[in-house]
Amino acid sequence: MADTTLRDKVAVIGGGEKNLGALISRTFAEDGARIVVHYHTSEKEAEETVRAIQDGGGKAVSVQGDLTRVTDVRRLFETAVDTYGGVDVAVNTTGMVLRKPILETTEDEYDRMFGINAKAGYFFLQEAGRRLNDHGRIISLGTSLLAAFTDGYSTYAGGKAPLEHFTRAAAKEFADRFISVNVVAPGPMDTPFFYPQETPERARFHASQAMGDQLTRIEDIVPLIRFLATEGWWITGQTLFANGGYTTR
Ligand SMILES: NC(=O)c1ccc[n+]([C@@H]2O[C@H](COP(=O)([O-])OP(=O)(O)OC[C@H]3O[C@@H](n4cnc5c(N)ncnc54)[C@H](OP(=O)(O)O)[C@@H]3O)[C@@H](O)[C@H]2O)c1
Repeated sequence: MADTTLRDKVAVIGGGEKNLGALISRTFAEDGARIVVHYHTSEKEAEETVRAIQDGGGKAVSVQGDLTRVTDVRRLFETAVDTYGGVDVAVNTTGMVLRKPILETTEDEYDRMFGINAKAGYFFLQEAGRRLNDHGRIISLGTSLLAAFTDGYSTYAGGKAPLEHFTRAAAKEFADRFISVNVVAPGPMDTPFFYPQETPERARFHASQAMGDQLTRIEDIVPLIRFLATEGWWITGQTLFANGGYTTR
C-alpha cells in the first residue's frame, strides 16, 4: 500500500498563489508537502504565499506562467522536478469567468475562455501524466455550473465542461500507474473571482440556493481536495460537486 499522506510529497498547484489555490498551497505545506506555487499575473500574492509557507517551516517556490501556452505548462512541471526531484500531486485551480449572452460574445472572448479553461486544463493533465510519480493525484477545478441549466455562462461552463471528459480519459490512461484523476466542482464561491459578473441581487440569489443560505467558502472545498490527494485514492475519473446542494435555473 502506497503512502497516502502528503508528508515529503511534491505538489504543483496551478494558480496556487491566491484565493482557493493559496489555501490549498498552505494546507498541503502544513501537511508536509513541498509546494510549487504557480501564478500568472499575481506575483505579489505568490511571494506572500511562498513566504507564509517558509515562515511555517515548509518548503515552496513560485513559478510564473501563462498556462494557455504549452511551453509554460511544461516549464512549470520541469521546475518542480528540477527543484524537488519529482511530482506527486498536481492541482489545477486556474480558470477565467465571463457572463455574457451568446449573441454578444466575440471570437476573442471565446478563444480566451477556451484557452484557459479547456486548453490549459488539457495540457496541465498531459504534463502531469508525464511527470507524476506512480500513485500520483491530479485534481482540476470545475464549477457547479457543469450541472446547471442557466443563461449567460456559455463560454465559462462550456469551457470547463471538457475537463470532465479529459479527466475520465486520463483516469483510464494513467490507471496502470495508480494515478487518480478527478474534477472538483464548487458552487459559487466567496472569492473576488465571483463578484464582478454578478449584481448584488444575483449574488444574494446564488447564496439562497445553497444550504445555510450561503456561498461556497474556500475552507469548505480544501478538505475535499486534501482527501482526494491523500486517502481518497480509490476515487478516480469523477466530478465531485461540492456546493451545499446549490441549484440554479
Ligand atoms: N469563485 C467562484 O465562484 C468559483 C466557483 C466555482 C469554481 N471556481 C473555480 O475555482 C478555481 C479557483 O477560483 P478562485 O475563486 O480561487 O479565483 P482565482 O484565484 O482568481 O483563480 C483563477 C486563477 O487562474 C489564474 N489564471 C487566469 N488566467 C491564467 C492564465 N492564462 N495562465 C495561468 N493562470 C491563469 C489566475 O491567475 P492571475 O489572476 O494571476 O491571472 C488565478 O490564479 C477557478 O478554476 C474557478 O473557475 C470558482
